[in-house]
Amino acid sequence: MTRVLVTGANGQLGNELRKLSGLNQDLEFIFTDVDELNITNENEVNQFIENEPVRFLINCAAYTAVDRAEDEPEKAFLLNADAVDIIGRICTRHNIQLIHYSTDFIFDGKHRKPYVEADIPDPASVYGKSKLAGEYHLQKLNAGIIIRTSWLYSSFGHNFVKTILRLAAEQVELRVVDDQIGSPTWAADLAGITLEIINRLKNKKNPPQYGLYHYSNEGTCSWYDFAEEIVKLAGLKIKIHPVSTSEYPSKARRPAYSVLDKSLIRNWLNIKIPNWKDSLAKCMGITKHQ
Ligand SMILES: NC(=O)c1ccc[n+]([C@@H]2O[C@H](COP(=O)([O-])OP(=O)(O)OC[C@H]3O[C@@H](n4cnc5c(N)ncnc54)[C@H](OP(=O)(O)O)[C@@H]3O)[C@@H](O)[C@H]2O)c1
Repeated sequence: MTRVLVTGANGQLGNELRKLSGLNQDLEFIFTDVDELNITNENEVNQFIENEPVRFLINCAAYTAVDRAEDEPEKAFLLNADAVDIIGRICTRHNIQLIHYSTDFIFDGKHRKPYVEADIPDPASVYGKSKLAGEYHLQKLNAGIIIRTSWLYSSFGHNFVKTILRLAAEQVELRVVDDQIGSPTWAADLAGITLEIINRLKNKKNPPQYGLYHYSNEGTCSWYDFAEEIVKLAGLKIKIHPVSTSEYPSKARRPAYSVLDKSLIRNWLNIKIPNWKDSLAKCMGITKHQ
């Protein structure tokens, strides 16, 4: 049995991995969150790995509160950068293959065409800066595969889909920004891709050529378009008004455009990536008829 350790497993992505883990009978998963394994504590991680040797580590742990990070940068950097360095060093020492995630928010959003992996990052927010620092730690160690993703949602945890459904039940009108463009990503699709990568690495079939890949669902939209689709699928009648970022200020600055080019991962894994509307419908339990 090939053993796989998942950290931060009570979050969106971790829970989707849990759901899919049963389909991978030749992988034995150890799911942990901060109570079982606090990845900011080097001794604890070392001890854990010595007691429970694994071949793969999937790091789903992260500080993901984008606006709150502006007020507590130390916490964001501790988890998104320092802890990633700890994990990277321990994985290197124990020859463990690491899968780690980063974000579209490492880009400044000035592009008008999808960002490729080689584009120069320039994050505007503390969250983006902390995630980029985590990437740099792993790149310096030459450790692991980093998957940058965007606008993640799931039926687990906190996310935009759940927020819109809650607000739509409480209010008669909503205002949602329409001048930030990106690609939603269903965490279940990202979990599936992660397990596909683990299986490729395990079977040493078509190994990766790069350490950094972009993955999101296909298609692009604004947060306003995303909200409209959520309420349409839910059958709600609420009126949504498109507003500009300047009319709806938030603590953290977000990129105006953060669409990720996924050619590298698509070509490597030879996959067809689902469109965001189809995945959203699946997540919401709605079967679409063509
Ligand atoms: N969410 C997005 O929109 C988005 C977009 C782009 C990229 N990403 C990246 O995708 C990855 C997965 O995100 P996600 O949305 O699944 O994250 P999430 O739902 O916020 O889950 C993160 C998990 O890590 C746990 N955690 C916190 N401190 C920890 C520690 N010291 N040790 C171990 N675990 C700890 C959290 O517990 P608590 O809840 O108790 O703190 C939570 O269960 C992250 O790398 C994130 O940066 C996310």
